[in-house]
Amino acid sequence: MVTMKVLMTGATGLIGRAITKALHKREITVHYLTTNSKKIVCEENLKGFLWNPSNGTIDLESFNGVDAIINLAGSSIAQRWSKGNKAKILSSRVDSLKTLHAGLKKVDSSQIQSMVSASAIGIYPNSLSNFYDGGNTEVDNSFLGEVVEKWEQEADTFRDFDFNVTKVRIGVVLSISGGALPQMARPIKSFMGAVFGKGDQWQSWIHIDDLAEMFAFIIESKLKGVFNGVAPNPVTHEKMTKELARVLGYPLILPNIPNWFMKLILGEMSYLLFASQRVSSKRIEKKGFQFQYPNIGGALEQLYGSEIKNGESSLGSLEDELA
Ligand SMILES: NC(=O)c1ccc[n+]([C@@H]2O[C@H](COP(=O)([O-])OP(=O)(O)OC[C@H]3O[C@@H](n4cnc5c(N)ncnc54)[C@H](OP(=O)(O)O)[C@@H]3O)[C@@H](O)[C@H]2O)c1
Repeated sequence: MVTMKVLMTGATGLIGRAITKALHKREITVHYLTTNSKKIVCEENLKGFLWNPSNGTIDLESFNGVDAIINLAGSSIAQRWSKGNKAKILSSRVDSLKTLHAGLKKVDSSQIQSMVSASAIGIYPNSLSNFYDGGNTEVDNSFLGEVVEKWEQEADTFRDFDFNVTKVRIGVVLSISGGALPQMARPIKSFMGAVFGKGDQWQSWIHIDDLAEMFAFIIESKLKGVFNGVAPNPVTHEKMTKELARVLGYPLILPNIPNWFMKLILGEMSYLLFASQRVSSKRIEKKGFQFQYPNIGGALEQLYGSEIKNGESSLGSLEDELA
């Protein structure tokens, strides 16, 4: 049987691991490019290859028999925005796409049908009232906006090739294995949870499984253009924090934390906590994509369900112990 083959960058990260699972469920073979030789495995449906976007090297064997490409690679945005880190955050994304593009020029790419590149909702201007559907051209006036704009411009160069190019503007990905959620849950579990600022900033989130399914859906349906990788019902930061506390079974006792205080601790990167983007999932839904977790309460209950059942972190069990 001839199975489909996808080449992925950033496959070893949080989102890449979930997409690999979603592709394997469909019996799609995954080739992936990694910068770390220790992360290379060679199995029947999963095969790693080395690359180094900072000097433009790439194992061209990775393109063999590939029908689609998924690009996720990039140094984490959630690190102190020092001059050096800022340069790394931007160059890791732009260099990855340049290296892929140059590699593709050297091989026969006629079999490739699509390329899906990760982007981020941080491109949308910070706003409490706008509702972004993906058709907007304005860019947020921040380091984040600048990075995402340049990242997308580089992805657009793949239109030179004869395949579909798609960008997925990803929101706050909810997973207990990494990303923002465990960072939000930790203080709540230590009775130190609090809302940042007024709490009215919009958080457009998505359950990791829905995002992974969305990437697989885009490839299977051969979609092109810009889609938002967010759930249908964004919430305010206050609602997100309160729902998380409810699901974890802990109270929120501390007052709201002001912007200036977080800036003192995290520097410019504290922007990530206060930026507001209310983003729509309508475009992908119109193509027939169905979300398994459309609401924040259900998504968090699914993610923390087993923890709660086991009584590991609920206030109830703590009270029982103290009684
Ligand atoms: N998680 C979110 O909430 C979220 C939201 C919006 C957008 N995104 C974007 O989606 C992408 C995937 O996110 P993620 O959460 O899965 O990230 P992640 O867990 O940090 O994984 C990113 C992967 O990129 C590769 N990478 C790291 N530094 C690199 C560098 N300097 N050059 C080339 N590759 C490098 C690494 O793969 P190797 O070590 O194998 O090389 C790593 O596994 C990222 O670009 C991120 O900005 C994520």
